Amino acid sequence: MAVFAGAQAEVVHVAIDHEGLTPDELEETIEELESQDRGIKFLYTIPSFQNAGGTMMPQQRRDRICEVSAAHPVLIAEDNPYRLLGFEGQTARAMRADDENVVYLGSASKMFTPGLRVGWTVAPDSLATILCLQSEAPVLSPSAFAQEVVAGCLEKYDWRSVLDEYRVLYGKWAQTLMDAFDEHMPDGVTWTRPEGGFYSWITLPQDVDSYDLCMEGIDKGAEIFTTTLKKAMNA
Ligand SMILES: Cc1ncc(COP(=O)(O)O)c(C=O)c1O
Repeated sequence: MAVFAGAQAEVVHVAIDHEGLTPDELEETIEELESQDRGIKFLYTIPSFQNAGGTMMPQQRRDRICEVSAAHPVLIAEDNPYRLLGFEGQTARAMRADDENVVYLGSASKMFTPGLRVGWTVAPDSLATILCLQSEAPVLSPSAFAQEVVAGCLEKYDWRSVLDEYRVLYGKWAQTLMDAFDEHMPDGVTWTRPEGGFYSWITLPQDVDSYDLCMEGIDKGAEIFTTTLKKAMNA
């Protein structure tokens, strides 16, 4: 969101459910925006183990979203850094694999280490040059050293086995978290049970102020990362 805000994008949200982005609501939103003559630059979606819901889109839904987007047409940005992080090794086809008009975004951050800040894109030819120029404009070049490290890992290292180990580890951590939620969460709180990736979405009862809860958590040493703690920033 912060990146989109920095580019002065006007972001229109589409509802998600327990299986991620909902195609019917997507279609309605696109039609509504078209009826207002508002141009749509692209649809941004995280199909696998979504940040922050932890949801996994079934194949049928991915296909339907590609269909809806192609019909209008709207470009899809498929941000898929958690794709290979299913706890049981399960994964899903990239939307890009079935639709050449999808811009696929991957990241070494979630596979190796976040500090590298190296990612990659698979984009339609018509966009590739523009994307390179856009990425070079603010930073000249992403770190050549970090890119070499990632290239070395991919070429010379058995990174698939390492990912297998990470997946098992992440699965154990997630199970620990779920066990703790089961034991300690009060009545009225619900949460998603992720099958991969890093995220679970907690829904609080209507009368609980999440801001106050965050502040209490910070006082007790919890790390809170959010772009919506406006009250804190204004204080
Ligand atoms: C969906 C998604 N895309 C991209 C990123 C950022 O990845 P990178 O570290 O490669 O910038 C994150 C980080 O949390 C993320 O959740």
